[in-house]
Amino acid sequence: MSLIFRVETSAEIDSTNDALKARAQRGAEEGIVLRADVQTAGKGRRGRKWVSEAGNLYTSLLLRPTKTPAEAATLGFVMAIALGRLLRAVLKAPVEHKWPNDVLVDGCKISGILLESGGITGGKVDWLVLGIGVNLRHHPAETLYPTTDLLAAGGPVLTPDQALDLLLAEFRPLYAAWVAGGFAALRADWLAHCRGLGEPIVARLERDEISGRFEDIDADGTLLIRTDDGALKRIAAGDIFLVSRSAA
Ligand code: BTN
Repeated sequence: MSLIFRVETSAEIDSTNDALKARAQRGAEEGIVLRADVQTAGKGRRGRKWVSEAGNLYTSLLLRPTKTPAEAATLGFVMAIALGRLLRAVLKAPVEHKWPNDVLVDGCKISGILLESGGITGGKVDWLVLGIGVNLRHHPAETLYPTTDLLAAGGPVLTPDQALDLLLAEFRPLYAAWVAGGFAALRADWLAHCRGLGEPIVARLERDEISGRFEDIDADGTLLIRTDDGALKRIAAGDIFLVSRSAA
C-alpha cells in the first residue's frame, strides 16, 4: 500500500528536521511531513547553516522503511531525483544532480537535502527524517557553491505549499520503487542527469582533498574517483568541485 503523507504547517520553527526527529524518537508514525514558512536554526550538511527566510520551501518527511543504515543512506538520491523531475517540468534550463544530493539549475545549487536517521533494531534503522530546502524566490549569496532560485532561473511563482504538493507527487512512486528494489532500482535515473561524470573533480573531505576523474557511483551511492596514479578511491561523504567549470 502506498504511503499516505500528512502535511503539518508552522509559521516558524527552529529546524523542521530537529522538530521531526524529536517526534520520531517519541514514536510518531511515518508519513508526517512538517513544513515551516521560516526556520530560525535551519541546518545544512556537514554542520553548515541553511538560511531559511520566508518564500522558500523548508520541509521534512518522517519515514520508517525496513532498511539497513547503508541502504537508508541512499534515500537522499531518491529525493534528488524527485526534485530534478519537478524542476525539469517547470523550467527550460538544464537541471542536473550533483553528488551527493544537490540539484543544480544551470550549474547553480537550487536545493539541499539533509537525511538523518536514528535507532537500530535487528540491523534496520528505526526512523529516517528527510529534510529538503528548495530556493523558490530567493537564494543566499555567500555560499560554498554558486546558488540560484526558481524565479531567478526563469521558473514560475510557486508557493511553498504548491512546491511541496508537486514534490510529494514526484517522490511517492520513487519511494515505493526504492522500498521494493533499493537504490539499485533508481541508480540509473540518478546517473542519467549527473553533473561531472567522467570529468576531473576535487573531493574535499573532513581532513583531506582527493583529485581525480569522477568514474561512477556504486550501489550504495559511494563516489568513485580514479586518481592520476590509477587508484580507485571511494568517497562516502564530502563536497565535490568540478575542476574544469566555474560553477558548482
Ligand atoms: C544542504 O546543506 O545542502 C542540505 C540543506 C537541507 C536544508 C533543509 S530545510 C528543511 C530541513 N530542516 C533543516 O534544518 N534542514 C533541512
